[in-house]
Amino acid sequence: MTVPPRVPRRLAAPAPGWTAEADVVVVGSGIAGLTCALRLRERVERVLLVTKTVLSAGSTEWAQGGIAAAMDPEDTPQEHLEDTLVAGVGLCDVDAVRALVTEGPDRVRELVGLGANFDVDAGGDLRLTREGGHHRDRIAHAGGDATGAEISRALIAALRTVLDDPGIEVVEHALVVDLLGAADGSVCGVTLHVIGEGQVDGVGAVRARAVVLATGGLGQIYTSTTNPPVATGDGMAAALRAGARLADLEFVQFHPTVLYLGEGSTGQQPLVSEALRGEGAVLVDDRGERVMAGRHELADLAPRDVVARGILQVMAERGLEHVWLDARHLGAPFLERRFPSIVARCRELGVDPATELLPVAPAQHYASGGVETDLLGRTSLTGLSACGEVSCTGVHGANRLASNSLLEGLVFAHRIADDLGARLAAGELPAGRVPVEPGGRPADLLDSSHRVRLQRAMTRGCGPVRTAESTREAAAELAELAALPTGAAEPGPRTWETTNLLHLGQALALLAHRREETRGGHLRADHPQRDDDRWLTHQRVTRGEDGVLVVTERPVSTHGDTAVGGAA
Ligand code: SIN
Repeated sequence: MTVPPRVPRRLAAPAPGWTAEADVVVVGSGIAGLTCALRLRERVERVLLVTKTVLSAGSTEWAQGGIAAAMDPEDTPQEHLEDTLVAGVGLCDVDAVRALVTEGPDRVRELVGLGANFDVDAGGDLRLTREGGHHRDRIAHAGGDATGAEISRALIAALRTVLDDPGIEVVEHALVVDLLGAADGSVCGVTLHVIGEGQVDGVGAVRARAVVLATGGLGQIYTSTTNPPVATGDGMAAALRAGARLADLEFVQFHPTVLYLGEGSTGQQPLVSEALRGEGAVLVDDRGERVMAGRHELADLAPRDVVARGILQVMAERGLEHVWLDARHLGAPFLERRFPSIVARCRELGVDPATELLPVAPAQHYASGGVETDLLGRTSLTGLSACGEVSCTGVHGANRLASNSLLEGLVFAHRIADDLGARLAAGELPAGRVPVEPGGRPADLLDSSHRVRLQRAMTRGCGPVRTAESTREAAAELAELAALPTGAAEPGPRTWETTNLLHLGQALALLAHRREETRGGHLRADHPQRDDDRWLTHQRVTRGEDGVLVVTERPVSTHGDTAVGGAA
């Protein structure tokens, strides 16, 4: 990569026309944002929860498989930790995983206490299933395959019961534009674009003692993804522009079994949960031969990077656009009871899992990297915390273990709420820090008409199979987009989203190009082996003073100890 990419300090946007104040502003309303806001409300005076469209529109709502936690008496957090580390292919930070697996079971029990209706057996015990990379049945699910929707429902219901409380306020249709920075470099609020009415409409500024980003992932950077349309990386991009450190961005997870709808199909695609394979469905090629036979001891339930790569190899060898998932032997009554949403969606689209093979192919699913945090969810910028998919806590390493994402959002949202509650009570992050006008020119905006070109460049260049050349080409195409004549695009939500995708794409392509090895989510065709001597390290990217993206590396934190009872 010859010219290192630059990103500006802020997006071009109208000057704020309104202002609001809060102790903490939480941006995003998936499991992480809702959990954090609800818990913060008990700890600080004024919480403002803002969300891009409506409360239920984020990725949590779409989560099918479930939430992983060692809830079975036979299971242990230690075993959950070991499976997480194996899936993360050497790049998980062990202390973060330890926090996840030890605190996870209590957090899930609290969700049940809050009213989330998980599926239970006749005795009232949670029904637990298995997904790729897990050696035990430890995935709690709801509505069969509608776990995220049920969690979202329960959390939103809990939020609605406290909305009369002056200590918490919700603003929907509020897109975060940028972070506000004080003279000491700390974060002291956000600028937002609200499609509202009356006082709060258009671009405004919310000043806060602390900001929590829970804005989800960046799936819309690729041509096809399981992520909803709102997943345009807005929080991640705003953090990058503000100078926060992002880490592991090159580790993008491609889900192996996404319903294949034809070559030209773009945007959000229907997920076919790994839990189907957990219940016995298998992947086959055009001859009916098992795709995963002989590839891994767990076969169809290998970690999802292994399965996705197996599928891509078979597709390449046999000239196929997809493989097939065979769930027919599970029978209509079981499939309809256990996977009602998937069965209904497939039938709607003209294919019946009870009687037909399902065409499936890998598609973008999850950003394993994001805004780097410590164990308390603090980022490299004072006053800014992050949780859920927007963050990189070190839990996922190079490849997230199935159903660890909802759990991560839950566990780290709690940690952040407790941390901020204590800090604000101790007088840290004082109110009244005045935002300073960032220097430099605001970003030239990228018109949304270029979004498809950007997505194609990222899919070709930084997809599950990459090379030095493909990542270089993606970077070059994004550089061309960044250099388009100024003033062509009007500020507004679609343009800001597209510009966010551009800034994150530039950072992602830079890290993907540098990592000359195959690990986790991707295969580097020109470096087909994992290289622990050189690459047992996190890559981090930060915006330098002059806007140039600077890459540094951090060794993986193993603390030499992978026991759950070890150093915390
Ligand atoms: C799935 O249900 O296969 C997805 C679960 C996850 O992404 O963890």
